[in-house]
Amino acid sequence: MNTLTAQIKKDLKTHTMGHTIHELDQVSSTNDWALTKANQGAEEGTVVIAAEQSAGKGRMGRHWFSPRGHNLYMSIILRPEIKANQLSRLTLVAGAAVSEALGQLTQKEIFLKWPNDLIFNDRKIGGILSEASVTGTQTTSVIIGIGINIDTNDFPEELHPVAGSLSDILEETVERSQVAAFILNYFESWYDQFMNGTWNNVVQWYDSHHILKDCLVELTSGEKSYRGLVQGIDDEGGLILKLDSGETRHFQEGDAERISHAARD
Ligand code: BTN
Repeated sequence: MNTLTAQIKKDLKTHTMGHTIHELDQVSSTNDWALTKANQGAEEGTVVIAAEQSAGKGRMGRHWFSPRGHNLYMSIILRPEIKANQLSRLTLVAGAAVSEALGQLTQKEIFLKWPNDLIFNDRKIGGILSEASVTGTQTTSVIIGIGINIDTNDFPEELHPVAGSLSDILEETVERSQVAAFILNYFESWYDQFMNGTWNNVVQWYDSHHILKDCLVELTSGEKSYRGLVQGIDDEGGLILKLDSGETRHFQEGDAERISHAARD
C-alpha cells in the first residue's frame, strides 16, 4: 500500500468512502480518471487522488490550478439511486460536508459560496466539481471532485486577490492525508443522511454558512447578469434572489459576486 493511502486509511472511520484509493502521481484530471473507472464498474466510495493535475477542471469550464505540492486533488465515485433532477442537491451535500470537515480540522468557520466554493477570510481555499453520468432519468454514477489548496502561495497573478490556502489559517502544516481523511469521514456522514431522506439539514447548513446570506449580489448566468438580494437556497439546491425589479427568481447555475451586505450596509 502506498504511503499516502496508508496514512489516510489510518484515520478513516467510514464503512464505504475511501476503502479503495487509487493514488496517482500525475493525471489530467482526477474527475476524468474517476469517470473512466466508474464506467468500468468501480464501486461506490472508490477514491482517486493525484499529486498533480495537468488539466484540472473547475466549474463552468474553468481551469483548476493544480501544481505539484501538498494540495488535495481528490475525486469520489458515487452510485446514488437518485433521479437526475436531484443531482444539484448532492452537489450541495458535498459542499456542506467539506465545509464542516475543514471547519473541524482548522477550528475556524469555513464559509460556502453558492454553489460550493469553500471560503475563508473572503478567499477561496477550495472548490467542488460534481459530474454525473445519467441514463434516461436515472443516475448511473456521480463523481465528486474536490480541490483544496493546502499550502500554495504561488498562485497565478489573476488568482492573487481571490485565492487562499489552508496554510493561511493554520500555523502548522497539515498533511494531505489528514485533509483527505477528514473530508471522507464527514462526506460519508452527510451523504448517508442525504440518501436516507434528510435534505433540510443541508439547507440549514447553507443558511448558517453562506457567505452571500442577506447580500446584494450580481449573478451571472449564461450570457445574462442579474442584481438581487440573496434569499436562500431552494429545494433543488438553487439560489433564490429577490431581483431589483421585485421579482423572486430561482437560479440553478451561475456565479454570484457580492455587491454589499444589504442587511448591514
Ligand atoms: C471549482 O471551484 O470551480 C471546482 C474546482 C474543483 C477542482 C477539483 S480538483 C479534483 C477534481 N479534478 C478536477 O479536475 N477538478 C476537481
